[in-house]
Amino acid sequence: MVNLPKPQGVKDLRSVYDMLSLKGKSALITGAAGGIGRSTAAAMAELGAKVMLMDIPSTEDHLKKITGDIKERYGAETAYVVGDVRDPDSIQGFVDKTVETFGTIDILHNNAGIGGDADGWDVSYDLWNKIVAINLTGPLLVAQAAARVMIAHKHGGSIVTTSSMSGLVINAGTGYSATKAGVRHLTNSLAMSLAKYGIRCNSVCYGFILSGMHENMNAPDEQVLGMYKMFEENTPIGFMGELSDAVGCVVFLASDLARFATGSTVVVDGGYTTK
Ligand SMILES: NC(=O)c1ccc[n+]([C@@H]2O[C@H](COP(=O)([O-])OP(=O)(O)OC[C@H]3O[C@@H](n4cnc5c(N)ncnc54)[C@H](O)[C@@H]3O)[C@@H](O)[C@H]2O)c1
Repeated sequence: MVNLPKPQGVKDLRSVYDMLSLKGKSALITGAAGGIGRSTAAAMAELGAKVMLMDIPSTEDHLKKITGDIKERYGAETAYVVGDVRDPDSIQGFVDKTVETFGTIDILHNNAGIGGDADGWDVSYDLWNKIVAINLTGPLLVAQAAARVMIAHKHGGSIVTTSSMSGLVINAGTGYSATKAGVRHLTNSLAMSLAKYGIRCNSVCYGFILSGMHENMNAPDEQVLGMYKMFEENTPIGFMGELSDAVGCVVFLASDLARFATGSTVVVDGGYTTK
């Protein structure tokens, strides 16, 4: 018979509010000029985090305005930085800027991404490489740079990656589907090698969330409305997600409420992938 150690006793339930709080934590959000990124940045600020919003240089005016709005609304320590997740030097630059500004990085929302157009089996070499660079290689390099900070500062951390339901089922172009599946698996792989440092890595698979990707669509109104109708008809819950529907999973995974969650995939898709 194996002699198991005596159980040490069940710990009492702690306050959910305290565990969800991000007070004192420093967060870096990539793709933060976009719909989902700017929303998770605001949600983290509301929960007490210091937030660094990162996006490409062409979004700087927008980024500046979002940062100002978040600061005004929540009184949070907020800043922005421009760069490109395709460029290792740029990544090191915005990670260094976050540490310089807030002292460390506790949370990374690895969120920047592009849609893949309607590329099929004959996706061009150039488009494929572009999608892979932004949606897959970028998240790896950003996670590595942030993890180096978390390891050096010895406080662990949380990395939340934005994948997609297209990483679970085939409903989008070749490059998008492949990179969103890849980034989910990449996240789980990072979760295994970073667990010993107390760094948790999880990904979120969103369904249709009405966001920048749709706002900026270059198509006639009736075509866009037809597409929304198609989204709604294909989503069992019967509506497209709003930005408010995209933040809960990310702040949960970023917080101590999820301290036992790593290598997991949270699906927020109105039931699309279950039907
Ligand atoms: N909206 C949806 O329905 C949906 C569904 C599933 C997954 N997603 C994913 O959510 C994430 C955010 O998308 P969104 O809906 O907010 O779209 P969005 O277009 O509003 O935001 C994406 C942001 O990423 C930025 N970005 C693009 N290339 C970049 C680069 N090289 N370096 C840094 N930033 C770059 C863009 O400038 C943009 O601000 C993406 O990864 C997307 O694939 C969105």
